[in-house]
Amino acid sequence: MKAEIIRLLKESDGYLSGQELCGRLGVSRTAVWKVMEQLREEGYQIEAVRHKGYRLLEAADVLTEAEFAACMSGRRLGKYLDCNDVLDSTNNRARQLAEKGALEGTLVTAETQTAGKGRRGRSWVSPPGTGIWFTLILRPEILPAFAPMLTLVAALAVAEAVEEVCGLPAKIKWPNDIVLSGKKICGILTEMSAEYDRIHYVVIGIGINANMKEFPDEIRETATSIYLESGRTVRRGLLVASVMKHMEHWYEKFLETSDLSGMKAEYTDRLINQNRNVLVLDSKGEFQGTCRGIDDKGLLLVQREDGSVEKVMSGEVSVRGVYGYV
Ligand code: BTN
Repeated sequence: MKAEIIRLLKESDGYLSGQELCGRLGVSRTAVWKVMEQLREEGYQIEAVRHKGYRLLEAADVLTEAEFAACMSGRRLGKYLDCNDVLDSTNNRARQLAEKGALEGTLVTAETQTAGKGRRGRSWVSPPGTGIWFTLILRPEILPAFAPMLTLVAALAVAEAVEEVCGLPAKIKWPNDIVLSGKKICGILTEMSAEYDRIHYVVIGIGINANMKEFPDEIRETATSIYLESGRTVRRGLLVASVMKHMEHWYEKFLETSDLSGMKAEYTDRLINQNRNVLVLDSKGEFQGTCRGIDDKGLLLVQREDGSVEKVMSGEVSVRGVYGYV
C-alpha cells in the first residue's frame, strides 16, 4: 500500500483527497493517515489540507522497497527487492541470496557498505546516504565464458541512465567505468558462480558516486560525482530505476545472440577510448596504439602503428587525458 500511495501522490498534479485514496486502495482513512505519517518520517514532504487532501511537496531520497516499487517500470529486473541500511558488500549479500535460490532480477541495495569491493581486490569507498551501491542477480542461460560481456551491458545501461536522469554526457572507459569530464563516477564488479559449461548465477555490483560533495585524498584526482559535475543532487531511486530499465532492454538484446552485436554501435558511441591513443598493460606486457572500438565479444580493438589490430581481453587500458594518463 505504501508504494501505491507514493505512486499516486507522484502522479497527481494537485491534492489527492483522503476519500479518493481510501476508495482506490480499499482501506480506511486511518490507514491512509498512518502511511502518510510513516512517509513523513522517512523524509517525504507531504502537505495535508482540510477538505482538499494530501499533496507531495518533495519525495524523499531513499532507497526503500516502497520508493523503488513506485518508480520501477521494468518487468524482469528489479522485480524482487532487498533494501538494506548497512551491508559489508551488496555483492556478498547478493551471492548469499543467490546461493539460497533468489530469482533472476533480484536487486540488493545498501545505504552504506563497510567493505565495498572494487576490481582487482581493491576496496570501494561507500559512504552512507550519498552514493548508490547495488547488485543485481542474473541467471543467464549462456556459457560461463560469455559472462564478462554482461559487465559491458551494465556499463551501457548506467551511462544511458545517467544521461536520461541527470542530462549529463556519460562516457564509458573500456570495459566498464563510467566517466564524466575525464573522471570516474561509477564502477562495476561482476562475480559469478558456475560449472564449466553452466552458470549458476551472476551478480553485477554497481557503485555510482551520486551526491558526494568530496572524496578522500587517494581518489580525489580520479573520481567525481554526479553532484560535483552538475551542481544538482540526483534522486537516487530514480537513477536506479532508470538503470534497471536500460539494463532490461540491453540484457534482452544480449540474450538473443549471446554477444554484444546488438549494442556495439551504442556502446562504441560512448567509448571515451575511441580513436584515441591508448596504453595497454596486459599479461603480455605494455604497448601503445589507437582504439578502434570493440568486437562482438566486447574485446577492445587496438591498432598498432604498423596497422595490425590487437584484441585486448582484459588488463589495464589507460587513455590519454583520462585519470591522469598524459
Ligand atoms: C571498480 O573497481 O571499478 C568496481 C567497483 C564496484 C563497486 C560496487 S558498489 C556495489 C557493489 N558491491 C561491492 O562490494 N562492489 C560493487
